[in-house]
Amino acid sequence: MSERSTFRLNGREVVYEGDPLARLLDVLREAQGLTGTKEGCGEGECGSCSVLLEGAVVCSCLVPVLQVDGREVLTIEGLASDGAHGALGEVLVREGGVQCGACTPGVVVTLRALLERDPAPSRAAVREALAGNLCRCTGYEGILRAVAALVGGEESA
Ligand code: FES
Ligand code: FES
Repeated sequence: MSERSTFRLNGREVVYEGDPLARLLDVLREAQGLTGTKEGCGEGECGSCSVLLEGAVVCSCLVPVLQVDGREVLTIEGLASDGAHGALGEVLVREGGVQCGACTPGVVVTLRALLERDPAPSRAAVREALAGNLCRCTGYEGILRAVAALVGGEESA
């Protein structure tokens, strides 16, 4: 099994040398110093560790680094460097979609992926997209209001 993985991380090529079964979450946080991706459950249940792999939301606690070899990974840090991020962050705060903040990086990753494929998602579509992101604080209403405000429409069922 190769002990070297080469992948694109937030737009730059990185090389990881080590255990090919290391969790992508640990490689991001420890080897790459990208601590915006959070560990919650460590079992694929909470979505705190969400990142984009080839544009799809994955739980980085479940992905061995060998699986990203030759592929593109985007973390919250990569997303934060573009213009769309500020608007989403602001509206989440304003609408009460951020409380303790533990879930927020994962929620933002999920919402960015959703808005990329559906720029005006319905309330039901947002709820469905967030099914893998556990938020213990907001009851999701603040997050749903934020997306509705961002896309400029009334919330629709
Ligand atoms: S830490 Fe990965 S899903 Fe909870
Ligand atoms: S804001 Fe606390 S878990 Fe979501």
